Amino acid sequence: MTKGNFPVDKLKGIETPFYYYDMDLLKKTLKIVKEETKKYGFIQHYAVKANANRRILELIASEGFGADCVSGNEVKAAVNAGFPASKIVFAGVGKTDKEINLALDLNIFSFNVESLPELEVINELANKKGKLAQVALRINPNVDAHTHEYITTGLNENKFGFSLAHLDAVIETLQTLKSIKLIGIHFHIGSQIEEIKTFEPLCEKVNELQIYFEEKGIKLEHINLGGGLGIDYENPDAHLIPDFASYFEMFHKYLKLRDGQMAHFELGRSIVAQCGALVTRVVYVKQGEQKAFAIVDAGMTDLIRPALYQAYHKIENISSDLPVKKYDVVGPICESSDVFVKSYDLNETSRGDMLVLRSAGAYGEIMASQYNCRELPKPYYSDKI
Ligand SMILES: Cc1ncc(COP(=O)(O)O)c(C=O)c1O
Repeated sequence: MTKGNFPVDKLKGIETPFYYYDMDLLKKTLKIVKEETKKYGFIQHYAVKANANRRILELIASEGFGADCVSGNEVKAAVNAGFPASKIVFAGVGKTDKEINLALDLNIFSFNVESLPELEVINELANKKGKLAQVALRINPNVDAHTHEYITTGLNENKFGFSLAHLDAVIETLQTLKSIKLIGIHFHIGSQIEEIKTFEPLCEKVNELQIYFEEKGIKLEHINLGGGLGIDYENPDAHLIPDFASYFEMFHKYLKLRDGQMAHFELGRSIVAQCGALVTRVVYVKQGEQKAFAIVDAGMTDLIRPALYQAYHKIENISSDLPVKKYDVVGPICESSDVFVKSYDLNETSRGDMLVLRSAGAYGEIMASQYNCRELPKPYYSDKI
């Protein structure tokens, strides 16, 4: 029996909770991203932070994409999964000496640098190794991403990147740093951005900055626009593959790239979110005074997004076709925030039913923890069960 895209009979025998990845959907998604970026000569670096599962990384690497990393271990994971170091960009506000040295030894494509002290340390460490470090300045464009405050990154008050007001000083310092080569500028305004129009002010800011750098006599070879394209959490089946065509077309239309200049992107969520689901079992159905609780064996330790930023994941009961009833779907963790959803319509459920939390391929498995001494959820793949 299958329900939706879920092979219920095969999944039944697996101990819950676990992540289930639809590898076919991931392949189709990658094919479309490849086609749409190729149209304009854009370069995509997959944001490893969204999901660093080895098989997923290997598949993405095998399709020729680059990687966007935010820690030394992400850089290692990317290289081990087959991403060439020459296609790796490395961002993050707190890169340690150890991480910088690792990236220098591997000769990564670029450091996306977020502060002046970081620039100075990369220069010093590169100098010691007799290397020239390629860097892109992460600029905070003060553009509102209109998304949840925890995943907004491009406003002045966020910790990321250089503020526009400090650029003059940064450029002055750069002239003195002999082991640094400035190759471009980098932006990332936030995540789960559903309105493609939200990126238009970013393009305008980039166009203004291009003139600013040209007036300083600086030629930028690379413009990195970051990631952030949102997905449909409400109704995943309606948009299993996000609208990459409109997204890249918008950048093509609004960005004024110079001859030979390359545009780079760092999409994460939009590539992997819809291919993953968290599968869990109902342990107990508990009748409260006013409501019923479906208590499941997955918790915030397996998928923290609802507890962390009130995120919504569609939940389906793949074991029942009974009429729907309302439930609070909650996990077993000893925290009041361990709630997936409240007052939710679910096909009537009973102990042992399997529920799937959809759209969990991004910022799901990778954010799992062992709080309460729990085991980490295991991954299973549609082509290997
Ligand atoms: C610098 C940077 N690039 C890319 C991404 C990926 O964003 P998304 O998964 O929304 O595409 C992030 C996510 O936070 C990021 O911080």
